Amino acid sequence: MAKAKTAYVCTDCGAEHSKWQGQCVDCGAWNTLSEIVVQPAVKSAGAARSTTGYAGAAAGSPKVTPLTAVALNAETRTLTGIGELDRVLGGGLVDGSVVLIGGDPGIGKSTLLLQMLGTLGAQLPSVYVTGEESLAQVASRAQRLDLPLAPLHALAETCIERIIEQALSSRPRVLVIDSIQTIWTELLTAAPGSVSQVRESAAKLTRFAKETGTSVFLVGHVTKEGGIAGPRVLEHMVDAVLYFEGESGSRFRVLRAFKNRFGAVNELGVFAMSEKGLREVPNPSAIFLSAHSGPTSGSAVMVTREGTRPLLVEVQALVDQSSLGNPRRVALGLEQNRLAMLLAVLHRHGGVAAYDQDVFVNVVGGIRVQETAADLPVLLSVLSSLRDRPLPEKTIAFGEVGLSGEIRPVPNGEERLKEAAHHGFQKAIVPKANAPKKAKVGEMEIVAVERLSQAIDACR
Ligand code: TYD
Ligand code: MG
Repeated sequence: MAKAKTAYVCTDCGAEHSKWQGQCVDCGAWNTLSEIVVQPAVKSAGAARSTTGYAGAAAGSPKVTPLTAVALNAETRTLTGIGELDRVLGGGLVDGSVVLIGGDPGIGKSTLLLQMLGTLGAQLPSVYVTGEESLAQVASRAQRLDLPLAPLHALAETCIERIIEQALSSRPRVLVIDSIQTIWTELLTAAPGSVSQVRESAAKLTRFAKETGTSVFLVGHVTKEGGIAGPRVLEHMVDAVLYFEGESGSRFRVLRAFKNRFGAVNELGVFAMSEKGLREVPNPSAIFLSAHSGPTSGSAVMVTREGTRPLLVEVQALVDQSSLGNPRRVALGLEQNRLAMLLAVLHRHGGVAAYDQDVFVNVVGGIRVQETAADLPVLLSVLSSLRDRPLPEKTIAFGEVGLSGEIRPVPNGEERLKEAAHHGFQKAIVPKANAPKKAKVGEMEIVAVERLSQAIDACR
């Protein structure tokens, strides 16, 4: 094989350079050049074909095909034996898929994957490639988790060429790479964990998965900026990106589908940590409520719908007189800019000013809420803290808040209301378009609002 050449590509503009330099001469960005492998051109009939002449088209080259003539081979799925993981994967593990599992160090990625290989057992032969721990550490972890040791095969290796060589000879159906940041290819001189090494190794593994039908799991540590090894280089290469989230103090862990070619995005799987590893929480709707003995100011409960099921989640706000010229706005588990926008709406359309106050908002349980249905409960919690007056007892809220102070409907209102009523809530402040015709759902009173001012009135 001809020796592969390397070049340097600007990660901002994509310009290619033959030498490393501090600044990209094309776009002027600093420190963006990253080393890549330049594959030698393959001289095949297809490559020799001119782009204009039809005559040269080789017999084996792709043709335009009507979709009716395409044989549908439904993807084959295998249930991993961990229900919450199967749910996030979109209903089981798809053959030949590449799944990236990202998360902070110590959140439980290795534990989850080892448990999965244990429950897959003899059903699908697997190899757990560890670049971080020794084989003895993996074995003792498996023992601690009470997993059957017989079907578990591990490999302590970090060189991608040797991993693929081993995988080709032992032919696993599931390959776990823990973690992609430790893997390196002989083709590049960059250090393991650098963007170019991670990208090249992941590309090789993706090719391996597609060619052999092996399902590949890549573990990726999240960097300080929140991306997986640099500017999200891996996300577009893989079929699914799952993020493992959770507060370090909480024993609950949430696995979220951020991207999934084979299922719904934002689908959540919920786990609880234990001595014996992660346990599924198949009915998680009430675990994100904090246990207050009585009504507390600054707390509101919302019903969010992440993926395909509703969840009751508490938001807490603390509003405090600021001593800064530029008061702080801190949002944990929510988008910061959205909070600033909501405070402006609260001022203009609710008549409540917070410009001289520090505002802190936190979603209980360390989960991230991305949907706009959180707008109304966030505003109500801020209002409650500002006035130091609890919201009416056993109340939930959801709804998007528009810039002109209108409360807009959100999808699946009925399902959210049912879930709240099921958990014994007595009052729901919801967008008018989401309210059912009857004034009650079960025992729960429905307050339908069209404008922010009506919602504020409902909290008196
Ligand atoms: P680990 O799976 O190694 O995290 P990651 O691979 O994401 O860095 O888990 C970190 C530590 O937490 C490890 O020492 C085992 C422990 N742990 C439990 O004891 N119980 C659990 O349920 C989980 C998930 C982890
Ligand atoms: Mg680990």
